[in-house]
Amino acid sequence: MSEFENYQPETLAVRAGTERSQFHEHSEALFLTSSFVFDSAEQAARRFIGEEPGNIYARFTNPTVTMFEQRLAALEGAEQCIATASGMSAILAACMGLLKAGDHVVASQSLFGATVNLFNNILNKFGIETSYVSATDVAQWRAAVRPNTRLFFLETPSNPLTEISDIAAISAVAKECGALLAVDNCFCTPILQQPLKLGADVVIHSATKYIDGQGRVLGGAVLGDKKRLEGVYGFLRTAGPTMSAFNAWVFLKGLETLKLRMDAHCANALQLARWLEAQPNVAQVFYPSLPSHPQHELAMKQQKSGGGIVSFEVKGGKEAAWRVIDNTQMLSVTANLGDTKTTITHPASTTHARITPEARAAAGISDGLIRIAVGLEAVEDIQRDLARGL
Ligand SMILES: Cc1ncc(COP(=O)(O)O)c(C=O)c1O
Repeated sequence: MSEFENYQPETLAVRAGTERSQFHEHSEALFLTSSFVFDSAEQAARRFIGEEPGNIYARFTNPTVTMFEQRLAALEGAEQCIATASGMSAILAACMGLLKAGDHVVASQSLFGATVNLFNNILNKFGIETSYVSATDVAQWRAAVRPNTRLFFLETPSNPLTEISDIAAISAVAKECGALLAVDNCFCTPILQQPLKLGADVVIHSATKYIDGQGRVLGGAVLGDKKRLEGVYGFLRTAGPTMSAFNAWVFLKGLETLKLRMDAHCANALQLARWLEAQPNVAQVFYPSLPSHPQHELAMKQQKSGGGIVSFEVKGGKEAAWRVIDNTQMLSVTANLGDTKTTITHPASTTHARITPEARAAAGISDGLIRIAVGLEAVEDIQRDLARGL
C-alpha cells in the first residue's frame, strides 16, 4: 500500500486497505455474496481470463476479504496477503503452493502440534519430508539441509516455552542453501515483530488469535511477495480454504485495536511474569522480557516487547500444576490463546499430550509446566486467581 508507506502501525491498523463502495460508507462494509455479476458476456470473459481485474466468485476474492488482506499486508510490510479459513489452512496453502513431491523441509522442533501433524502425517503422504531441529541452534538448521531442501519453517516465540529463533541468522542460512524461510508470526503479530523485514520470505498467521483477539472467529493468512505466492493463491482459488467475508469483517475491526491490545497484553504479561518469579512454589518462569530468559537479548532486539504468553513450572509436577488450574475461579481453562480473557492450560496433558513422554521431555515440556495467555483483566485479579492454588 504505497499511499500508506510513511504511516505508523496504529494508523495502518485503522486506515489501510479501506475501499468504499458507491454508498460512501465510513466503516468497512460486509459483502455477503458468493458471486458477482458482469455487465456483459464480454466482461465476464475478460474477468475469467484475467484481462480485467475484479471479483468473480467469493472462493477467489471478496471485497471485504480484500480489505482485510490489504490492511494486514500494510502492517507486515508485505506485497501480498492471502487470507485463509484458519491458521492451519494458511500453513497448508503455503506448503501446497511452495512445495512439490520430493522436496524437503527443515522445521523447528518447537512448533504448534497440528503443524507437526500436517508435516508428519499429511504432507509426508505426498512425498514431502520434514526434519526437525532446535529452534535456537542455528548450526542445526545448516546441518539438516539436503540438496532438495526448499523450505525452513519456524514459530517465534515458541509455544509454550517462548524460545526465540534468530530470524535474521536462520534466513541467512536459508538463502545460502536456496531455501525459503516461513515464519508463523501468530504470537507476536506485526505490532511486535515483522519477520519479512528480518529476512523471512513468507509470514503465516492464525488470525484466530490476537488479530481477532476476542475469541470469536477462525482465520489465517499467508504474506510475502506476489510472484512467490502465485502458487499459494492458485491452491486457494482451486481448493477453496478461503476466508469468509463475515470473518474478514470481524478481523478488520480486530486489527483496528490490535496495537492497543498488544500493548496491554504485554504490560500485563510482564507484571505477571515478575510476580510469578517471586512465588516460592514456582521453579522457573519463561517470558522473553525477563533477564532470566535464555534468549532475552535476542528477543529484545527482534521483538518490540515480550508478548502475551507466560509459562511457568510449578514445583510438584502434574499434581501441583492441576491444583493451580483447578483452584482458579476466573481464568478460562482452555488451550486457546490471544484473547481478552486470560486462558490457562497444562501443555503436557492437553496440547502436547499426543507426543511421547520422551519427546515432551526433549522439548522441555515438564509435567509441572503451565501456560498462561495473559488477557486484559486487571493483573491483580489474575494474580489472586493463581495465588489460591500456588
Ligand atoms: C502458533 C500457531 N500457529 C497456527 C495455529 C493454527 O491456527 P488455527 O487454529 O487458526 O487453525 C495455532 C493455533 O492454535 C497456533 O498457536
